[in-house]
Amino acid sequence: RKNFIIAIDGFSSCGKSTVAKALAKKLHFVFIDSGAMYRAVTLYFIRQGIDMTDEAAVVAALENIHIDFVPNAEKTQILLNEEDVSDEIRMMHVSDLVSEVSAIKAVRHAMVAQQQKLGKRRNIVMDGRDIGTTVFPDADLKIFMTADPRVRAERRFAELAAKGETVTMEEVVENLSHRDHIDSTREESPLRQAADAFVLDNSSIDQAEQLRIVMEQYEHIK
Ligand code: C5P
Repeated sequence: RKNFIIAIDGFSSCGKSTVAKALAKKLHFVFIDSGAMYRAVTLYFIRQGIDMTDEAAVVAALENIHIDFVPNAEKTQILLNEEDVSDEIRMMHVSDLVSEVSAIKAVRHAMVAQQQKLGKRRNIVMDGRDIGTTVFPDADLKIFMTADPRVRAERRFAELAAKGETVTMEEVVENLSHRDHIDSTREESPLRQAADAFVLDNSSIDQAEQLRIVMEQYEHIK
């Protein structure tokens, strides 16, 4: 049989990557965090001072960006031109700009092409915003995750606080709603629930239960 593709999409901080990672581990599939790729591009733009409205500069910059995933014992590192940027891409200065960068067509075209390549000839679980609609419209299984906005903000706040980032709850709420708005209203591959996606609202269920539900969906298609 051909390779399996599992697409997990949804709003920011819905716990997509937690479910995707657990599922990949259980099934021995490769987990790919597509959001990390957009974050790495954003970090590069910030560092190089790329003017996002200058299309030629954006296109030229994209040619110099090489992103790799390196699976390690506990976590997968993301490399931007050979440098491990796994921690920095999660910081607020990147989160604040990533949706603007992700709305640029040239950026999306480059990332989608890379993501499709990563899904060739191997079993993957990929999480993001447009995986089931644009990157892999023929994915074997599509999950669309949602959660109560308050629950999402609390989770993200706890995550950032644990990493020692000084951020207020208000800033987190503002960042999530800002990203969701841009992600769902952009012209190029906006965040949409695919018609054939299974909807998982995890506002009030724990991780084990989420994995159980998704595994049940997987059993139907395999
Ligand atoms: O998944 P994460 O929250 O890390 O993604 C960061 C941002 O990257 C999102 O808010 C969105 O703007 C962008 N993104 C995207 N398409 C994807 C994955 C992420 O536009 N497939």
